[in-house]
Amino acid sequence: MITISSVREMQGVARAYRRRGERIGFVPTMGALHEGHLSLVRRTKALSDVCVVSIFVNPTQFGQEEDYARYPRDLERDRQRCAQEEVDVVFAPQAVEIYPPGHSVFVGENDLSRVLCGAVRPGHFQGVLTVVAVLLNAVLPDVLLLGQKDAQQALLVQRMVRDLCFPVQVVVGQTVRENDGLAMSSRNAYLTGEERKRAPCLYAALQEVERMYGEGERDARLLAEAAEAHIRAALAPVRFAIDFITVVDPATLRPLSEVRGTALVALAVTIGAARLIDNTILPPGGELVT
Ligand code: PAJ
Repeated sequence: MITISSVREMQGVARAYRRRGERIGFVPTMGALHEGHLSLVRRTKALSDVCVVSIFVNPTQFGQEEDYARYPRDLERDRQRCAQEEVDVVFAPQAVEIYPPGHSVFVGENDLSRVLCGAVRPGHFQGVLTVVAVLLNAVLPDVLLLGQKDAQQALLVQRMVRDLCFPVQVVVGQTVRENDGLAMSSRNAYLTGEERKRAPCLYAALQEVERMYGEGERDARLLAEAAEAHIRAALAPVRFAIDFITVVDPATLRPLSEVRGTALVALAVTIGAARLIDNTILPPGGELVT
């Protein structure tokens, strides 16, 4: 496994792989690697010849009041995990490599980025799309792996790849969960013991929605209300705030009144100091595709 920190060197190595006819699979991350990230690495290895993982805590996708400064960083531990998974290249650039002095070009999106997380985190998806565009131009991958846990992000990157003609295939991997159902996330580390005990209610609420759907309920408002009631009851003893719990069209991310075809049930809830997101697709087991 090699570790690369410069964009130029990364491009040189990527070109060499490509000249040899080797397919490059790419998993972009912000580090603090967990089983969710590693599941994408394993999926990549099945789809390509070489696997590149980037580790870069991207400043432009954090808001002023957000957790950029305290986001967990441990490059040595992340590198060890990558080595165990037989990753070929860890690309870990410094911010100045991605954003050279005077950097002034950003990738903006005018539709899907305005709703859900985009409505409460202005600028967030512009930061995500910009860094993913730069990383794609550095790593030159054939296949890009993203997680369904960040469903809106995956849809936005798919839209950017389509609209800006990036020559890469996007594959979305399923959400990996702790044994009690909590979706794995670097931000789970911010939870206190009591909050951590209660946090699986987010997934339990999504399962409740799946159960109601299974029994024939198609009214989106009733499904969302049931999830919200479940979460409010479970989190009552701790500090929490619900950003949204909503049933949307997975292609447009606009709210549905009735679930006819596929639906995305998405939620964002802040528990204590951790803003957590999770989602499920109806009918259950469906995949996020555009
Ligand atoms: P990060 O939160 O580190 O996530 C990196 C990738 O892992 C994303 O595609 C995310 O959806 C996926 N992932 C996170 N938790 C997961 C889980 N529990 N199960 C499956 N996949 C999971 O998302 C980002 O970083 C950044 O926004 C990035 C795309 C790297 C741009 O900076």
